[in-house]
Amino acid sequence: MKTSKGIAKRFLENNGLLADQISFEDVLDDFLEEMELGLTGEESSLAMIPTFISIENSVPAFKPVIALDAGGTNLRVAAVVFDGDGNSRISHLTKHKMPGSDGELNKNEFFDKFVEFLLPFADRADSVGFCFSYPAEISPDRDGRLLAWTKEIQAPEIVGEFIGKNVFERLARKGHRLKFTILNDTVATLLAGKSVDFEHKFDTYIGFILGTGTNTAYIEKNRSITKRRDLDPMGSQAINTESGNFSKCPRGPVDREFDKTTETPGQYLFEKMISGAYLGGLCLTALKKASEAGLFSRHGAQWISSKEALSTIEVDCILRDPNRAIDDGSREMSADDREIIRHLCAAVCKRAALFAAINVSAAILKSSGGRSSRPVCVNIDGSVYYKIEGFTRMAEGYLEKILRPKNISYELIRVDDSPLIGAAVAGLMC
Ligand code: GLC
Repeated sequence: MKTSKGIAKRFLENNGLLADQISFEDVLDDFLEEMELGLTGEESSLAMIPTFISIENSVPAFKPVIALDAGGTNLRVAAVVFDGDGNSRISHLTKHKMPGSDGELNKNEFFDKFVEFLLPFADRADSVGFCFSYPAEISPDRDGRLLAWTKEIQAPEIVGEFIGKNVFERLARKGHRLKFTILNDTVATLLAGKSVDFEHKFDTYIGFILGTGTNTAYIEKNRSITKRRDLDPMGSQAINTESGNFSKCPRGPVDREFDKTTETPGQYLFEKMISGAYLGGLCLTALKKASEAGLFSRHGAQWISSKEALSTIEVDCILRDPNRAIDDGSREMSADDREIIRHLCAAVCKRAALFAAINVSAAILKSSGGRSSRPVCVNIDGSVYYKIEGFTRMAEGYLEKILRPKNISYELIRVDDSPLIGAAVAGLMC
């Protein structure tokens, strides 16, 4: 007998959306290979960006620093100080919209916003730890040159610009000479994890983010970063992998169709399968395709075709209570329709949890060299990871499944305000 779940399962299979059909060992191998290629400078979808930030120094106590967190849609600035035991205290927190997230800005308009946000802090400290959650090439003096915008920010003139230098010069004209350290949000998350390791129980650290976007940072030995010849071979540093751009993930027709509807077709393919900016749209594309394939009643199909957009938050509501979340106005949609909608969205999220676990596993294996006496610390930040119904449980289950047979010891931690705390650590250490 053809049950609606059976039909939905076949649809998911045909579209490569079922987690169970994915060979995680193959994807993991591809991830590790792309990481390796990125470090040597050969062609790879993983940029593997050196950050010139090591974890060898300790954080000075009782020295104030300004921490700036420029994320997907929000921007936060605060003063941060660490006490003698390494505990952080955040004060004078101000919140703004990320410049360029709300209409296009030109170069001056963009940088002037940062000056405006930083000016009230300019007399509070000498240095700024600037967490910049976009792909940026980092120079040895830890300035960041924007490679491309992600997260739909509209400020095209900024691509190719040095972020720290531009803000520094504008602030200097107003009489304030602050030292800038630019770092990715995953590097900040990694450093925040280290900052709470009071007992030194971890071997090494990873920062993983799954929110609006996704990305991973880990610590690599300088001698393995063969694309740079100017590094101390005895040292090590954080690498921003830009894992959102991983392109070797198995994709299906729904992924391909959805990608075409985004601002940047062909780019950040992995991010488009798992992160908050895209999961809603991906689910909606799956629903529309399932509707074309005749999986729904007339009322179900009508509801789906009336939806122009679906946010990741709405997907989460559907997973929690499809009856409340799916309001078709007429209550004529069948219970079966609602159940299939929930089932399809749940499958897309389950696959995302598997991919997230593969990504984290690759970083753990790469940083531990396949062995670890002490556990690897994985600090995880981001709304998708913690807020989507069942996501944390699924991802952690997959991590166990992948890593237990390899005998790797790791610990997942969560540090509130990781981007701010990590930015403060970097601002003080560098
Ligand atoms: C996007 C950005 C990356 C950032 C991630 C998480 O993928 O390109 O730099 O770390 O989102 O915020």
